[in-house]
Amino acid sequence: MGTADKETLSSSPRFSQRRYWSQDQAISYLMQQGIENPDCLSLAAGFVDFETLPVELSHKASADLLANPDEARKYLQYGTTAGSDRLRNQLLEHLARMEETSVEDLGIDRDQLVLTTGSQQLLCILADVLFDPGDICLVAAPTYFVFLGVLAGVGAEVISIEGDENGIKVEALQSELERLKQAGKLPRVKMLYLVSYYENPTGVSIAAERRQPIVDLVEQYSTDHQIVLLEDAAYRELRYDGPELPSLWSCDPSRSQVVLAQTFSKSFAPGFRTGFGVLPKSLVQPVIDRKGNEDFGSSHFNQNLIATILEKDWYSNHVTEVCDNYRRKRDAMLAALEEEIADMQDQVSWFTPHGGLYVWLTVPPEIETGFESELFKYATEVEKVMYVPGQLCYPQADQKNQMRLSFGVLNPDLLREGIARLARSIRHFLK
Ligand SMILES: Cc1ncc(COP(=O)(O)O)c(C=O)c1O
Repeated sequence: MGTADKETLSSSPRFSQRRYWSQDQAISYLMQQGIENPDCLSLAAGFVDFETLPVELSHKASADLLANPDEARKYLQYGTTAGSDRLRNQLLEHLARMEETSVEDLGIDRDQLVLTTGSQQLLCILADVLFDPGDICLVAAPTYFVFLGVLAGVGAEVISIEGDENGIKVEALQSELERLKQAGKLPRVKMLYLVSYYENPTGVSIAAERRQPIVDLVEQYSTDHQIVLLEDAAYRELRYDGPELPSLWSCDPSRSQVVLAQTFSKSFAPGFRTGFGVLPKSLVQPVIDRKGNEDFGSSHFNQNLIATILEKDWYSNHVTEVCDNYRRKRDAMLAALEEEIADMQDQVSWFTPHGGLYVWLTVPPEIETGFESELFKYATEVEKVMYVPGQLCYPQADQKNQMRLSFGVLNPDLLREGIARLARSIRHFLK
């Protein structure tokens, strides 16, 4: 062995298994693609709209928090692991409004609310406290690819459940649970993860009539232990039209099966990194213990800033404005698709989302969309437009002819231009 080899070996730490499970993350690769192609119009970026970020409101709320020095020092101090009582009190009311009920009828105590650094932290903590390597998580396919990375990072086995434009199919969930039961694997099934409203990446919501049966099935198969249904409702408040949908959480009056994860990132500002979880009692202490190891509390100041926004009733008008803006942008993207794809409509299809930030597009099976595909290269290098390859959103990367398009960042004119470029790219490869 040469000196150089020895140096490389001895200077490299011996990493844990978890380090290898979390390498090659799609999100990092995607960010890298964004950096390498700065002149592209990005239909890929998952960022929120820049124009509607709440500068004035944040200014007013922080001035309010800092106005009285004694009070201000409290907000600038560490908080508790579970998070600010002030915000959690506000959240009980916020949740009651969303659930169209009273705080009393929510059937939970304040202690079942835990504030996290974005909802992403809650997803990671839950994965940490629930999964041993080889444990099973059921997911929709496609689903939020960052969570697929989290699951890989804890060595979980991920099994996808077939869905359609109404979310996962109840029969598909039942037959998978039954198959696992027959195979003696139910004790390994720890979680069903679902993005219930305007899913990232498809924009699809779980239809109202599927919600109760899904919750009931989880209960029916929780014979060995409670299978946790993690309802990721990150886009719940970004509703533009379509039916008002009850949360999965509301379909579990026992409050013992479903974790509801929500965030202020999409409806207010991701820069505050404030999310929250409504937890069954059995999960509160495990989550707090794990979070204690991580950071013993998320930003106390930011939590209080959000509390002020809610307390002063500045929040709901802002969300209305945000939704009006995204509705226009969604409509611009859909109109551009109708127009630009008109000559390819029997080969290219998409779902119409009623909220959220994404449109999911399917091209013929012979056209692959991945980072290494001819289409991706042509789109980014020749037409200068970027999208998220759909295969990132499947646990086994087995569907290769889809893409996620975001209307979050670009303005309506640039969205139209982006879709025109994308349509030319697709047309280039159609037979
Ligand atoms: C489905 C879904 N869940 C969770 C998150 C995490 O968001 P945050 O950590 O900002 O709350 C995102 C972010 O894009 C998301 O799309």
